[in-house]
Amino acid sequence: MTSKQARSIETNQIDIHNDLTKLVARHQEMQFAKPIASHTQKAFDRVLSFLDGWQADVIIDACCGVGESTLKIANKFPNAKVIGIDKSIARLDKHASYAELNKSHYKEQSTIISNNNYILVQADLIDFWRLLNSTLNNVENAPKWQVTQQFILYPNPYPKKAQIGKRWYASAIFPYLLNVCPTLELRSNWKLYLQECLIAANHYGLNGDISEIQINKLGKDSFSLNGLDEAFTPFERKYLESGQTCFKLVIRPEGVDK
Ligand SMILES: C[S@@+](CC[C@H](N)C(=O)[O-])C[C@H]1O[C@@H](n2cnc3c(N)ncnc32)[C@H](O)[C@@H]1O
Repeated sequence: MTSKQARSIETNQIDIHNDLTKLVARHQEMQFAKPIASHTQKAFDRVLSFLDGWQADVIIDACCGVGESTLKIANKFPNAKVIGIDKSIARLDKHASYAELNKSHYKEQSTIISNNNYILVQADLIDFWRLLNSTLNNVENAPKWQVTQQFILYPNPYPKKAQIGKRWYASAIFPYLLNVCPTLELRSNWKLYLQECLIAANHYGLNGDISEIQINKLGKDSFSLNGLDEAFTPFERKYLESGQTCFKLVIRPEGVDK
């Protein structure tokens, strides 16, 4: 399949799922019993070493895939440390070639690329968010850094009706994810995914806005640097090139600046 032929969402769900609010409410009280997988514990320990001594902002790029977005976020926020997390080693292993591609673009534009403010780790996000949550809530030994933003760009949509429990906002990890940091940007080519996530966020007293990803006349979305590349991630590129519309949901608790 070439990038121009990316399939659009195929779903048997045309409206907000009937079980959504029930599921979200049920998960608010749930505790995990399953032990943390050892590979995620190791990845988390690497992240803690990376953040050792750090006393400022940390940004999470969840489901980072090849980490192209992680690199772009790290460049946009040079005073923060950015953590890209994905469970697929096959995707993470492709990071170097994406980084090289971006680097040569940036060089042409004489833009400084920061190499030392991000890290990519292979981990299961369910366990990773649990670990982050307990680290941040450790009153006796709280870290000096704080998570100020999270990105989830093009998560697997699980579009079949029966798969609702696998979508991040309808799964048991959602309260942990929000507790780590409720300032969240979620992108998808399935608007219903974002609409449902917003309803789930409303359940926790959070609000947000859904908008279309706008590519302006120079071919750049507001997130891109110097108009070098209109797409934020490979999946976004694939969808845009095939003529699909992509959307973003931005959840920002009251009082947090744009
Ligand atoms: C559709 S891809 C999007 C990748 C990237 N954000 C992009 O836009 O190009 C979804 C990614 O989520 C990752 N993923 C799914 N479930 C995960 C989990 N439980 N923990 C970590 N990564 C996960 C997959 O490995 C995959 O790379």
